[in-house]
Amino acid sequence: MSANLSSNIPILDLTPEVEALWPTLNEKLKEVIFSGQFIIGPEVKNFESEVAAWLGTKHAIGVNSGTDALVIGLRAAGIGEGDEVITSPFSFFASAESISNVGARPVFVDVELDSMNIDPDKIEAAITDKTKAIMPVHLFGRPCAMNKIMAIAQKHNLKVIEDCAQSFGARYDGCSGCTLAQCSTSGHIGKMTGTVGLVGAYSFFPTKNLGCYGDGGLITTDDDAIAEMCRKLRAHGSIKKYHNEILGYNSRLDSVQAAILRLKLPLVAGYNEARRAIATAYKELLADVPGVVTPDVTPGHVFHQYTVRVTGKDRDEVVARMQERGVQCMVYYPIPQDRLPVYAGQYPTYEVNEVLSKQVMSLPIWPQMDQSTQLRVVEALREVLA
Ligand SMILES: Cc1ncc(COP(=O)(O)O)c(C=O)c1O
Repeated sequence: MSANLSSNIPILDLTPEVEALWPTLNEKLKEVIFSGQFIIGPEVKNFESEVAAWLGTKHAIGVNSGTDALVIGLRAAGIGEGDEVITSPFSFFASAESISNVGARPVFVDVELDSMNIDPDKIEAAITDKTKAIMPVHLFGRPCAMNKIMAIAQKHNLKVIEDCAQSFGARYDGCSGCTLAQCSTSGHIGKMTGTVGLVGAYSFFPTKNLGCYGDGGLITTDDDAIAEMCRKLRAHGSIKKYHNEILGYNSRLDSVQAAILRLKLPLVAGYNEARRAIATAYKELLADVPGVVTPDVTPGHVFHQYTVRVTGKDRDEVVARMQERGVQCMVYYPIPQDRLPVYAGQYPTYEVNEVLSKQVMSLPIWPQMDQSTQLRVVEALREVLA
């Protein structure tokens, strides 16, 4: 018997969040708009200092998008023409695109089947004399194995630019066996993703764990010179108005988005806890369903997506049959970056990456998702996979 769905279940529902925020948001938006300070006004400056304190970083620089955060972060870190940057093939195209757009070459290293993140044990084999940086992507909100990645970066003198578009608030706790000297004390244990490497790049795209209501992004760093360069690059290559020193971009976080982010920042830890609770419940509820592999609720994981692997049936058919039952599931990502038309013929095949692109399917998750909605998703999947 098919699940009797009274209404469709989207992959993400922002309505409960907006409804809860609306009275305060309404007031705030009115205040910001009437202030007339739309660009780099007090809302942006206040957000930058509040988010820097929240993340535990010295500098936070608001920009126009997560993509710009990566491009500007890479350029500020000195990555450019002729350089190679090691990254994961299994990510949204902005990761590799940003590397290509600064004139460098993305070098892909295969991912792990369980974490779906770059396999740290395969990184060293990909290092050449052109390698300048590693860009770990904390995919779906799960922190990469930063202990191993930082140790490799230190050994080979590489810069680490973290793609945190999907991992706002994810905490890197997995330090067992860490070889970093500072790790034994306070070190990087429990640090937020994006504050472990040299530069962190975040997206505030509306669907993200901390999302605004338009485009927005952030760069984090403890390095004063890199922070200054990011501020310069986001404002047409100038710190002082009409004294443009280098070619930059028009890439500022706007005040309206900053005001929205300031309202949401104190709530994001609670949102992330709710996501973890939903992920824990999914894991238990799906434990006896054959043909589906669920992700582990690892320390620090903030479940930007709840992504399972479909092993028993054709994944695309499962997605279609879930849709027939009114449950929207998404495939992130059906074509890995290395096989996108833009890079046609340039890369070999990465085995695990290929498996993931054929098997992954993301189920509905949002912080306010209630238990009955979740049970309907599980019931639909149970039927489809039966
Ligand atoms: C892994 C990853 N990196 C970078 C980005 C780019 O962020 P934005 O859409 O804000 O430019 C995204 C956005 O989805 C992403 O998922």
